[in-house]
Amino acid sequence: MKLLVTGGAGYIGSHVVHAALQKGHEVEVVDDLSTGLVSRISTPIHRIELAQDRAEEALAEILAGGFDAVIHLAAKKQVGESVLKPEHYYRENVGGLLNLLEAMKLAKTPNLVFSSSAAAYGMPDVNRVSETEIPMPINPYGQTKLIGEWLAANSNNWGLKSLSLRYFNVAGSASRELKDTAALNLIPIVINQIRAGQVPTVFGNDYPTPDGTCIRDYVHVSDLADAHLAAVDYLESSQPKHEVFNIGTGQGSSVLEVLDGLRKISGVDFEHQVAPRRAGDPPRLVADITKAEMVMGFKATKDLNDILTSAWN
Ligand code: WQD
Repeated sequence: MKLLVTGGAGYIGSHVVHAALQKGHEVEVVDDLSTGLVSRISTPIHRIELAQDRAEEALAEILAGGFDAVIHLAAKKQVGESVLKPEHYYRENVGGLLNLLEAMKLAKTPNLVFSSSAAAYGMPDVNRVSETEIPMPINPYGQTKLIGEWLAANSNNWGLKSLSLRYFNVAGSASRELKDTAALNLIPIVINQIRAGQVPTVFGNDYPTPDGTCIRDYVHVSDLADAHLAAVDYLESSQPKHEVFNIGTGQGSSVLEVLDGLRKISGVDFEHQVAPRRAGDPPRLVADITKAEMVMGFKATKDLNDILTSAWN
């Protein structure tokens, strides 16, 4: 199939591009290169800021080339920043998707895979979060992702076949070139600190969890990329009825378990310090992954050790 990947020069996007090329798909990329790196991919890159006025015209021109699906990853994704700059997040994430949907309608592009997030759930008080959980995002970033799902669903009205993937905690890397350079999340932050001889900080060890630290569902970015290809295949043979899928492993790991894993893999027996809780951190966020497996036949294959080893390397 011929795929357009927005945000395809990004950490996750470039993994999706490489996986799609390996599967024999034809791929083009749209990216504003605000955080993406040209060095990550070899495909044509259309440099477009999706939220800019009239971006839908440039996008429609590209899509007129005849694409089977768009995989939409381009968005701002820092929770903390979204609290400080909500308007920017709404303009970029919601405005950008609106322009893309306008262009897809004009060009009659049939399929859309939308990159959503577990942040849409907010702080669900359940052991594993299933897609039937009522989403109650607690920050503007999560709100923009939930609204994006609604927009993708509304587009079923003109025949668009769409689905949303709610990513849990993405980490690891398929190769050194594709690593997460942003280092905004636990695993890359701690790896950089170990390398710099700094002491990692645990944000709170008084949570209602076995070791007192927050539990998350860490999923390898290569597994996540494969989930997008399963999604594209599923859409090809589905009806225009928007579906949401959790993408995770179904396994939870605490902050301390991540640190211990990194001690083993790095061989560095580093100390860590404990700081007060970070606002907005749910004690536990682990995916119920049965729907992706039942409906799309997708199941993650890599575990925390694979993730930490690939991230360290
Ligand atoms: C994980 C855990 C921290 C750093 C966010 C977004 C989510 C998604 C992934 C986009 C938390 C703790 C962290 C540190 C720590 N992004 N931590 N010390 O908050 O689960 O999810 O990123 O889709 O939308 O919400 O990820 O990696 O920031 O934190 O103790 O130096 O590690 O408190 O419990 P999070 P994270």
